[in-house]
Amino acid sequence: MKYYLITGGAGFIGSNFVKFMLKKYQDVHVVILDNLTYAGNLGTLKNELKDPRCTFVKGDICDQEVVKKIFSGYPIRYVVNFAAESHVDRSIENPQLFLQTNILGTQNLLDVAKKNWTTGKDEKGYPAYLDGVKYLQVSTDEVYGSLGETGYFTETTPLDPRSPYSASKTGADLIVVAYSETYKMPVNITRCSNNYGPYHFPEKLIPLIIKNILEGKKLPVYGDGTNVRDWLYVEDHCKAIDLVLHKGRTGEVYNVGGHNEKQNIQIVRLTIETVRRLLKENPEYRSACRGEVNSSEKKTPDNIDDWMNDSLITYVTDRLGHDQRYAIDPAKITKELAWSPETKFEDGIVKTIRWYLENQDWVNEVTSGDYQKYYEEMYGSR
Ligand code: NAD
Ligand code: DAU
Repeated sequence: MKYYLITGGAGFIGSNFVKFMLKKYQDVHVVILDNLTYAGNLGTLKNELKDPRCTFVKGDICDQEVVKKIFSGYPIRYVVNFAAESHVDRSIENPQLFLQTNILGTQNLLDVAKKNWTTGKDEKGYPAYLDGVKYLQVSTDEVYGSLGETGYFTETTPLDPRSPYSASKTGADLIVVAYSETYKMPVNITRCSNNYGPYHFPEKLIPLIIKNILEGKKLPVYGDGTNVRDWLYVEDHCKAIDLVLHKGRTGEVYNVGGHNEKQNIQIVRLTIETVRRLLKENPEYRSACRGEVNSSEKKTPDNIDDWMNDSLITYVTDRLGHDQRYAIDPAKITKELAWSPETKFEDGIVKTIRWYLENQDWVNEVTSGDYQKYYEEMYGSR
């Protein structure tokens, strides 16, 4: 049995990774460490938690005692750190929380892993490590800053973060590099572009737009909608992490991206069209469409052609310091590890929208807490 510590495993990508690993390998035991912020949900893991190969620990990655206890309870050989505050808009409101979780939490995990994996010293005084251990930091393309109309981020692009979120992720990357250089700790960093897919919290663009369309609400597009993101289906990201963890060269950074650039406004229009088409083709999805009663008409599945269209789009005040364009060059991971994205965007977006149509209970569950308050604060006055 191989023991993995997967932090942030109740969030979007972390939970997809837990599901992927338990399905792909028989001889794995995953210990999930997550403190269940608004973005973490145990309902996401309800099937996995019945599996004896999966253990859930509710706790903070910044808490040294909790992490130490996990290492003394299980022979952890891999750490994959997904845990983070991940939303740029929230980082603009509360930067300190991002620095706390994303930087200090990362350093705490590195420290406890290093102590538990050290077996002695080599002839130069560096720590020697147990065979086969690895710490993988899940990072983001946002550490490279913002691109103009041309060019791509490669692993050697200078770090140039511009938001509190990306600055905190960059700080985390740098402390991972410091542990690699100073203590020769076996690490990798992956830097991925925007993910989409099941279990994506509806504060991020694609799931928020799907939710609002079904409710007949306005679709808030920041600025002029021309900002570009490079979208990757979440399962393709999980496959890349698995490869880097087991076959990546120690100490290396790998960029992960799908060569799938889209302007936000294209994403919004395509999502409207796809939701409308799926609702018309599949009567069983009608219950997902709650519409909204306004003064003049009721928005129902019977009259979706009248209201489920571009008239829902509303341009709102731009995000402060909004990065214009992200685009990853994944040549290194493709060449060294034979990774390439398998899900075409046209298929992935339909799969994703179907998932949301079929999993409204999950959406209702994760948005039942503070979500309404957050939504009012974010979009109420825009
Ligand atoms: P998410 O916000 O959906 O999930 C984050 C998870 O971390 C949640 O379950 C939350 O409860 C947990 N968490 C937060 N603070 C914690 C703490 N102090 N201790 C323990 N757990 C804590 O995020 P996501 O979109 O799944 O992103 C996962 C990772 O991937 C993040 O590190 C993010 O920076 C990175 N990333 C995300 C994307 C993307 O498009 N979503 C792209 C590239 C990289
Ligand atoms: O690039 C990787 C990053 O992608 C990850 O590191 C982050 O954790 C993840 O949240 C994501 O960041 P973005 O800021 O790109 O994602 P978000 O879904 O918040 O926004 C995508 C784009 O859509 C961005 O240009 C802002 C815009 N947007 C977003 C929301 C929520 C809107 O126009 N309207 C909205 O309501």
